[in-house]
Amino acid sequence: MLDPVIKVKDISKRFDNLIAVDKVNFEVSRREIYGLLGPNGAGKTTLFRIIAGIINPTEGEVEIYGVNPFSEESREVIGYCPQEPVAYDELTGVENLTFYAGLYGLDGREAKERSLKLLELVGLLKYAKKKVKTYSGGMKKRLNFAIALVGDPKVLLLDEPTTGMDPEIRRFVWSLILKFKNEDKTVLLATHYMEEAEELCDRVAIMNRGKIIAEGSPEELKRKSGLKSVINIELLEPKSEAIELVKPYALEKGAILDKNVLKVYVDDPDTLAPKVISRLLSHGYKLLSMKISPPTLEDVFLKLTGRRLREE
Ligand SMILES: Nc1ncnc2c1ncn2[C@@H]1O[C@H](COP(=O)(O)OP(=O)(O)OP(=O)(O)O)[C@@H](O)[C@H]1O
Ligand SMILES: [Mg+2]
Repeated sequence: MLDPVIKVKDISKRFDNLIAVDKVNFEVSRREIYGLLGPNGAGKTTLFRIIAGIINPTEGEVEIYGVNPFSEESREVIGYCPQEPVAYDELTGVENLTFYAGLYGLDGREAKERSLKLLELVGLLKYAKKKVKTYSGGMKKRLNFAIALVGDPKVLLLDEPTTGMDPEIRRFVWSLILKFKNEDKTVLLATHYMEEAEELCDRVAIMNRGKIIAEGSPEELKRKSGLKSVINIELLEPKSEAIELVKPYALEKGAILDKNVLKVYVDDPDTLAPKVISRLLSHGYKLLSMKISPPTLEDVFLKLTGRRLREE
């Protein structure tokens, strides 16, 4: 690996009886976008707060560009975009950014110029003079992103930066994240959107219940999972017995019921889909739709844990 600039060594965090982060290890190199993909409660935010130098780990060590995240020097290196917006509601967008710029030693005209430039970057220049309390949730998230950039960091920690955004704005924020990477910077991104991880991340760590359970590029993770092709069958009345019915056609990874979609993991969908369907029909199942798709990171996660990434 090129130049690791983030080193997370054996980090654990315990809250009373709960182990929120359990012996996590990974390294991220310069110019890499590294994703932590995991469902609610996986421990992503706790890990981010440790890496950002906000809370102490129970065990382990973090190094960013060779320094401890609690040190003064690390402030210049890290830009942290927390999950919850940090802007003050009663201040305008530009006032918020100027305030945060002040914390990085910028003042007067310099702070204002930088703030306006960042507002323009995130598409909020038009709203610069509006109080943040009038912003939508998605606008607050974009302002949060701009605040994380105010100190011109080399390492950006983005905790679910696009949650609550509509798809078009989400794509726009993705382009900003890629732009940041192309400026020779490094990004750590927590998300529970598998599309976001697939689209942006060079490597992904899949996190569940405090542990990293798989790591690699999205392609590698899919390949290593052994999943080749997925027959997705939407059932009118899903029952777990359907899984047993189709298992004889599935690879050793089997089949899984994801809400009302029966997912059958196979290697030869063209031959097997008709057989799977006729078996279900002959047992009285009503099918609403059928789709054959390559495996996604969601499938990898389902296979590893039996759970979905997002519980709607
Ligand atoms: N300060 C705290 N005190 C006690 N328990 C905590 C604290 N912070 C987090 N937890 C618990 O630690 C676990 C991990 O939470 P965390 O917020 O890190 O997960 P997450 O992956 O960020 O989830 P989400 O996707 O919902 O943001 C959860 O069970 C949570 O309730
Ligand atoms: Mg979180």
